[in-house]
Amino acid sequence: DKGNFRHFMAKEIHEQPEVVSHTLARYLDLNAMTTRLPDDLPFDFRTLNRIAISACGTAFYAGLVAKYWFERFARLPVDIDIASEFRYREMPLEPDGLSLFVSQSGETADTLASLRYCKGEGQHIAAIVNVEESTIARESDVIFPTLAGPEIGVASTKAFTCQLAVLTALAIAAGRARGHLSEEDERKLVEALVEIPRFAAQALRLEPQIERLAKTFSHASDVLYLGRGTSYPLAMEGALKLKEISYIHAEGYAAGELKHGPIALIDETLPVVVIAPYDRIFDKTVSNMQEVAARGGRIVLMTDPKGAEAASIDALETLVLPDMPATITPIVYALPVQLLAYHVAVFMGTDVDQPRNLAKSVTVE
Ligand code: M6R
Repeated sequence: DKGNFRHFMAKEIHEQPEVVSHTLARYLDLNAMTTRLPDDLPFDFRTLNRIAISACGTAFYAGLVAKYWFERFARLPVDIDIASEFRYREMPLEPDGLSLFVSQSGETADTLASLRYCKGEGQHIAAIVNVEESTIARESDVIFPTLAGPEIGVASTKAFTCQLAVLTALAIAAGRARGHLSEEDERKLVEALVEIPRFAAQALRLEPQIERLAKTFSHASDVLYLGRGTSYPLAMEGALKLKEISYIHAEGYAAGELKHGPIALIDETLPVVVIAPYDRIFDKTVSNMQEVAARGGRIVLMTDPKGAEAASIDALETLVLPDMPATITPIVYALPVQLLAYHVAVFMGTDVDQPRNLAKSVTVE
């Protein structure tokens, strides 16, 4: 049931404040303001020496954001791979490694094959799944469910932000267990997570502005998305979302890579979406944005009030999100990124929920 929405995708985008809140409630103790994981975890964060994450598509980008979190909060090195590559690479895995699989459906063939490889190598197997009865869930030692509810739109939206919610709770728990985060650090981070639903609801209010902007995108043949840090995986996720439902070619790049090649693409016809919350690397991203502006690129800047003020260029359009703690920006900024793809696709008249050539669950390789 689509409710009052035109497409499942729109409904699922709008459900995010609620389903993320629901998911967080499972992994946080809101009285103690701590993370809360099952007592009988089949592995111990204190003795883990590595995490290997393997996933496909949007779930892979969620894993890539989590790499930044696990490394920063827990000083735990993370390898992250696209499952279709990982499964054939025969990566050497040390004892006391955790293999973590991220999958909405829990049925993705390549992710499942990666899981079986890691099992054979004696790794601890954990999965973040939305479908608790799925094959990946069944074959894991432990699962961390996302409580997104059924996701019908082929383009993954609410599953992504719920995956990020679980991953951030895991990374904080790991940081605490390994002694890299103090009680106070944990409390501050949990306080930030608790705010996600409110900020996400505010981000949805940008929809009318995004809808207007989407019309200008519909003339583009290519779109570039740029970000640094945890905004970099989000840039790739934005590009994936746009191409899969609007059929406009898009690429997500780490902003710092711009001058290593993609800058050659920039001219007056190329929209460039810059995801840049006002964080510790904001200035670096802005200098990349200036390079785009100097070459006539049409910029859409997603930032916050401080960022909008500090970025002294005539951006084509600035989407101003609320000011929020840096940890949660990839989760909240995902919403305008999804809305942009959605409205471009609606404007183009594509089949948003069932884009051509795609299946919701990729059970063959
Ligand atoms: O069910 P999974 O999370 O394992 O699916 C992985 C990808 O197939 C999926 O995220 C795909 O990239 C989506 N269509 C992206 O919107």
